[in-house]
Amino acid sequence: MNHSLIEKSAALLFMLTFIVISIGGLVQIVPLFKIDTTVTKVEGMRPYTPLEQLGRNIYTREGCYTCHSQMIRPFRDEVERYGHYSIPAESMYDHPFLWGSKRTGPDLARVGGKYSNAWQLAHLIHPQSVVPVSIMPSYAFLKDKPLYVDDLNLHMSALKTVGVPYDDEMIASAHADLEAQATGQGATEALLKRYPKAKLGDFDGDPSRITEMDALIAYLQVLGTLVDFSEPDASSATPSK
Ligand code: HEC
Repeated sequence: MNHSLIEKSAALLFMLTFIVISIGGLVQIVPLFKIDTTVTKVEGMRPYTPLEQLGRNIYTREGCYTCHSQMIRPFRDEVERYGHYSIPAESMYDHPFLWGSKRTGPDLARVGGKYSNAWQLAHLIHPQSVVPVSIMPSYAFLKDKPLYVDDLNLHMSALKTVGVPYDDEMIASAHADLEAQATGQGATEALLKRYPKAKLGDFDGDPSRITEMDALIAYLQVLGTLVDFSEPDASSATPSK
């Protein structure tokens, strides 16, 4: 039959294989361009506030992700220890992702609100003061480093170009929002309108200046707090694929 013809000619076999694989590839890839997003949006998710975003940058810079994951897998032991498993929408505004691949310390995807700001501060300054057997290094120096904010607007614009829905107003009021969140004073109402559930106040115990410690703690305190999993629909928003 004709099949033996294909089997005997390497060029023909290659060409026909190529056509078959291309069809398979197109069937998988083309639909992705047709839908708005591959991640279902979930109520409560919002971009990070300017202060949280800068705290996230410090988390990335300091390599916290080399010891901590931010991804709770849907296994019973993880869910009982850390809370509801992570869903795709929770990291849809994360650039870069900080899911991590190794847990020397615990998962941090839902650490927000688990401890007070004072605990987080004491722990970052000297982990062994609150967890005597801890092997986590000290990050006390963050308390003495003023937060660098000069490129904040550019940074937010860059995030906008990769799809984070910061609007012009959010970018224009970035500095005011950052100060309102880190001091708990000033335009806090406008901040909370733009970024619901933002935690306000002096995070590092020194109200006179805004440090890298303020930003990092603000970031830790928002982790996992935006989606309300007591609402029955929240977890069903996980794409069924
Ligand atoms: C060398 C590995 C290592 C690095 C790097 C590291 N940690 Fe940890 N972390 C740990 C270990 C181990 C624990 C558990 C013991 C403890 O609570 O101190 C921990 C605990 C924590 C906890 C408490 C979590 C909980 O649920 O009890 C937080 C919050 C935390 N780390 C934040 C950070 C941040 C922020 C950074 C980066 C600035 C960081 N860690 C860097 C190892 C690390």
